[in-house]
Amino acid sequence: MENAVASPPYNYRVVRQFTIMSVVWGIVGMLVGVLIAAQLAWPVLNFEIPWLTFGRLRPLHTNAVIFAFGGCALMGTSYYVVQRTCNAVLAFPRLAAFTFWGWQAVIVAAAISLPLGFTSAKEYAELEWPIDILITLVWVAYAIVFFATIARRKQAHIYVANWFYGAFIIAIALLHVVNNLEIPVSAMKSYSVYSGAIDAMVQWWYGHNAVGFFLTAGFLGMMYYYIPVQAQRPVYSYRLSIVHFWALIAVYMWAGPHHLHYSSLPDWAQSVGMVFSIVLLAPSWGGMINGMMTLSGAWHKLRTDPIIRFMIVALSFYGMSTFEGPMMSIKTVNALSHNTDWTIGHVHSGALGWVAMITIGAIYVMIPRLFDRKQMYSISWINAHFWLSTIGTVLYIASMWVSGIMQGLMWRAVNTDGTLTYNFVQELVERQPFYIIRLLGGVIFLAGMLLMAVNVYKTIRGNRDVSGADNVMQAA
Ligand code: HEM
Ligand code: HEM
Repeated sequence: MENAVASPPYNYRVVRQFTIMSVVWGIVGMLVGVLIAAQLAWPVLNFEIPWLTFGRLRPLHTNAVIFAFGGCALMGTSYYVVQRTCNAVLAFPRLAAFTFWGWQAVIVAAAISLPLGFTSAKEYAELEWPIDILITLVWVAYAIVFFATIARRKQAHIYVANWFYGAFIIAIALLHVVNNLEIPVSAMKSYSVYSGAIDAMVQWWYGHNAVGFFLTAGFLGMMYYYIPVQAQRPVYSYRLSIVHFWALIAVYMWAGPHHLHYSSLPDWAQSVGMVFSIVLLAPSWGGMINGMMTLSGAWHKLRTDPIIRFMIVALSFYGMSTFEGPMMSIKTVNALSHNTDWTIGHVHSGALGWVAMITIGAIYVMIPRLFDRKQMYSISWINAHFWLSTIGTVLYIASMWVSGIMQGLMWRAVNTDGTLTYNFVQELVERQPFYIIRLLGGVIFLAGMLLMAVNVYKTIRGNRDVSGADNVMQAA
């Protein structure tokens, strides 16, 4: 995978910038997550100030964690991985710098415009048209830098992690442009060119593939590089990695309608979405098993290396959420889960358990290498962070499962005369304790992120490694 030939002086500057900002935006996004979780438990925390209300801060949370935290992590790691696996320096350094500053400008524009109430009202695509144009420019620049670096590679083979990153880049470009075709009516207001059920279908084709390509394919690329590096083992089955790559790409695109069950979308389209979602279990688990089995023969590392623990637990949550997702896409199951906290639990088992934990693992692998340090400042802090993340995630998702299933069952309970057994407020009151448990889970997860920030800061402030060796993190 990595070449024995002497490495060229890689462009780490942009990788460092993206990596640090991923930590920063992760903390900001999760802090907003904690605030909106508290607002759901105690609505008085909306303070009756428009820009602090749940409705405006919720999209701020989703945009910050997905596009700022996740986006910076994906762009940073992809630039790192593509250089090292292609044995080539990043192409067009100025354009690469533009992708960093341009992406930060998008994030700041989102952080200002969303609380002010500017939104196109499409979930995960809320940003208004001028920001959409900036995103397109940055993304095209990103694609040019990434693929030009691949074209300049010094070896014939393109390592599988790059296939996943490449698919993520191409698919997001396509999704972003098609879903955001809109007609501007003022500087910060536009209307979608689509209407009715077509608008809903395009939106959830986008929404589901944002999950499939932003929150999955990109992070699988991360997984395929950082797990073998940290475990010091080759990928378990390279053939499986190729097979599940193509299967994943082929199947994900069709699963979007599972977000629109029992809606005005034609019934056959809903069924297509359901069937493709069930099929999706196979390629998803192909990736999960391949990642896990990469550790075969080195399982003992789980006992000593907290970074490996982060990665393996991330894969376990990936496996769990990609089992749960297909089940929730079955129409009769969705009739219970839709619009309940069950969905929120599912989202965060993927978001906290998979996306955040694999990112955290990758950041811990990269930081000493990027800053020429022997290892992270404190290994025991990484271990503490691992437990905070795991406990935080479990508290979050378990509380939402219980709350969501209770919610679905209470909504559908009917008396013998056909009237509803519970009204909405009765059901809402039952949910409050679970909202407090979720908040606690979020606070614990956030505490782990703060610990990571201090650890990263101390590592960077510490002494340089003068041995010149390529640092391999040694677990305590
Ligand atoms: C401290 C950690 C976090 C906390 C406390 C938190 C809290 C929340 C809350 C309270 C909601 C609104 C739920 C509702 O409307 O009922 C939410 C939604 C959401 N969060 Fe988080 N979150 C956290 C981390 C993350 C991360 C790391 C990601 C992604 C990588 C993420 C992605 C999302 C998404 C996609 C939604 C929208 C779900 C939907 O519409 O079904 N969250 N979060
Ligand atoms: C095989 C894989 C998966 C399938 C088939 C799947 C299926 C589903 C289904 C059926 C829903 C509920 C739709 C509804 O009732 O409105 C859902 C919601 C969601 N899932 Fe998944 N899921 C999968 C994996 C994942 C992963 C790995 C993540 C995150 C990393 C994720 C993130 C989300 C989000 C953010 C939503 C909420 C969308 C919204 O309503 O705002 N899913 N998924």
